[in-house]
Amino acid sequence: MSRLKGKVAIITGGAGGIGRAAGALFVREGATVLLIDKPGSDVEPAAEELGSSAAAFAADVSVAAQVDAYYREAERRFGGFDIVLLNAGITGAHLPLEDYPVATFDEVMAVNVRAVWLGLRAAIRPLRARGGGSIIITSSIQGLSALPQTSAYTTSKHAVIGMMKGAALELAQQNIRINCVLPGMTDTPMMDRIHSASGAAAQMAAAIRSTIPMRRYARAEEIARAMLFLASDESSYSTGATYVIDGGILASWASTPD
Ligand code: NAI
Repeated sequence: MSRLKGKVAIITGGAGGIGRAAGALFVREGATVLLIDKPGSDVEPAAEELGSSAAAFAADVSVAAQVDAYYREAERRFGGFDIVLLNAGITGAHLPLEDYPVATFDEVMAVNVRAVWLGLRAAIRPLRARGGGSIIITSSIQGLSALPQTSAYTTSKHAVIGMMKGAALELAQQNIRINCVLPGMTDTPMMDRIHSASGAAAQMAAAIRSTIPMRRYARAEEIARAMLFLASDESSYSTGATYVIDGGILASWASTPD
């Protein structure tokens, strides 16, 4: 298949579960991909796995100068870009609101909100010069609903949906489309860390699975497929929209684990 033939895609969080899966799928569909992840991450091996159509760049996406640097790298290596997947994210703490550390709140906002805003903002001029493009933001089902004890994460994932809508309106007539993908529980290193932090990983995973109507987590590739749709011209009339991929969780009123 070649739904992204000739396109260049930038993917943040490219060493993580969903970012890697999107990178692999985009390359299979003909794209050239620049994976971005934080310094010290596995972003180099992640790009190597994808072969000669992929490259890696280490950057902390919450720092404006490093955001500018990854876009410059895409210009330098590939002469520009058409698709930006703003996907890097962190979960923060699992604590009641009254005990939630301010520093953790700020850290979650920096990666999950500020970095997305910086990435959006800096993409616009180059995409306009290129004649248009597609920007995809990874929110979460926690962008439309909430779980207890994850106040910063829930706030951040709601925030990027509003950010996406405003930007989509500003750019709707300039052939720059902006949408959010909202994954449900997805089998990635992020979920592994959540399970391990509970001290009883297998039981926690089973408890969460039992609340999912499809009774299983998403595979990262199942989320990446929605991203592929939004990256490709198949979604040419989609902008300002949210795409939930959650195995039925948001349709259910029994989706919150105790
Ligand atoms: P992951 O932990 O496997 O990948 C996230 C990546 O972001 C990591 O490689 C990490 O190094 C990178 N990252 C974190 N801070 C960074 C920074 N300051 N600069 C550059 N890179 C940074 O997690 P996963 O599951 O692949 O998550 C991807 C996105 O999907 C995140 O935005 C997450 O919130 C979202 N999501 C994940 C769900 C899940 O169940 N796994 C559910 C809903 C949303």
